[in-house]
Amino acid sequence: MKFELTEEHKYIKDTAKDFAENEIAPSAVERDIKAEFPTEIVKKLGELGFMGMMVSPDWGGAGMDTVSYVIAMEEISKVDASVGVIMSVNNSLVCYGMEKWGTDTQKEKYLKPLAMGQKLGAFCLSEPEAGSDATQQRTEAVLKGDHYILNGMKNWITNGTSADYYLIQAMTDKSKGYKGITTFIVEKNFEGFEVGKKEDKLGIRGSDTCSIGLNNCIVPKENVLGEEGLGFKIAMETLNGGRIGIASQALGIAQASLEASVRYSKERKAFNSPISNLQAIQFKLADMAMNTEASRLLIFNAALKKDAKLPFAKEAAEAKLFASKTAVNNALEAIQVHGGYGYVREYLVERFLRDAKITEIYEGTSEIQKIVIARDLLKD
Ligand code: CAA
Repeated sequence: MKFELTEEHKYIKDTAKDFAENEIAPSAVERDIKAEFPTEIVKKLGELGFMGMMVSPDWGGAGMDTVSYVIAMEEISKVDASVGVIMSVNNSLVCYGMEKWGTDTQKEKYLKPLAMGQKLGAFCLSEPEAGSDATQQRTEAVLKGDHYILNGMKNWITNGTSADYYLIQAMTDKSKGYKGITTFIVEKNFEGFEVGKKEDKLGIRGSDTCSIGLNNCIVPKENVLGEEGLGFKIAMETLNGGRIGIASQALGIAQASLEASVRYSKERKAFNSPISNLQAIQFKLADMAMNTEASRLLIFNAALKKDAKLPFAKEAAEAKLFASKTAVNNALEAIQVHGGYGYVREYLVERFLRDAKITEIYEGTSEIQKIVIARDLLKD
């Protein structure tokens, strides 16, 4: 068993790092303050092949493995976790499902532009009354001739205001419970599709989050993804891969917090020497480094299993649970190492904390990850 990056992985790491430092970092603080979506950056990420990394080149993607995706996500999120989540949702929550369950016509029309970064995607599962308990979908879809009519409300939709195409879960047969949920590909300009108010968030402020209203939204029959009743399975399988993406986003924040702390502790003097000479600081750095590396290995473990087409739901949940906790802890410790300076915008680490917290909530809370892990352990 080798834990070595291939030449291709190293190339992706260098490319992502270079792009993050030169194109994303300079405007990251301003975007956070103004809660501004990085339209130009997302376009350039598309040109680099980062918006459809694992999609086959036949459908406009870069044809890379999940390990490459993890590496790129870490480097991008290290500099700006908002850009990280925009990229993650498009790659793992939208492109993945379209490639796996889409028809050739759907792939030509929707997947290709999404994978090339010409269009942006969003994934709509959560509702005001269906978050962790995702089976409780209230959005309904009724077949009328060659169209479905969708009615309902979706909540917390990442890329919500900026996306072009949306994967929407809706109930087509209530009597079947979660087996009556269907996934639809919905275009923003479909009649009855309404973008709600953009949320004013604690962190990842450069990404947009909003609700989506469906008011007699007319969706052609051919826009069903997979088949009727497959929606919950599609959502769950999609989220398994999504959790690798969010774990990698958290890893980027954890690594950034560690690096900022190492740098600052060598510069800042107290008691006549750099604070890095103090054991109190060294112990913090050691714990941060250990947990960051452990997160990275858990994420690679899940990614390698996914690439080998082995079951990886438990491994992805473990990776997300651990990496998100590490991101929050590292960001908190980074603030402590920086003292008062850590509490103000100038030193970045306060943003790391604000950005880190959401990784313990979206794409399955930490409590949901524990349920996924425990159920796997206890299954017959
Ligand atoms: N992978 C594959 N299949 C899964 C699965 C997984 N991780 N978890 C459940 N399933 C399948 C089960 O096998 C079962 O299918 P069968 O009947 O065919 O066997 C079916 O789903 C129902 O499973 P359960 O009986 O276990 O359902 P449950 O209601 O008890 O629990 C849950 C399901 C695990 C709690 C699930 O609801 C869940 O994961 N909730 C969290 C939802 C979530 O992550 N939301 C994030 C929103 S998306 C987001 O944040 C997007 C964004 O914009 C960033």
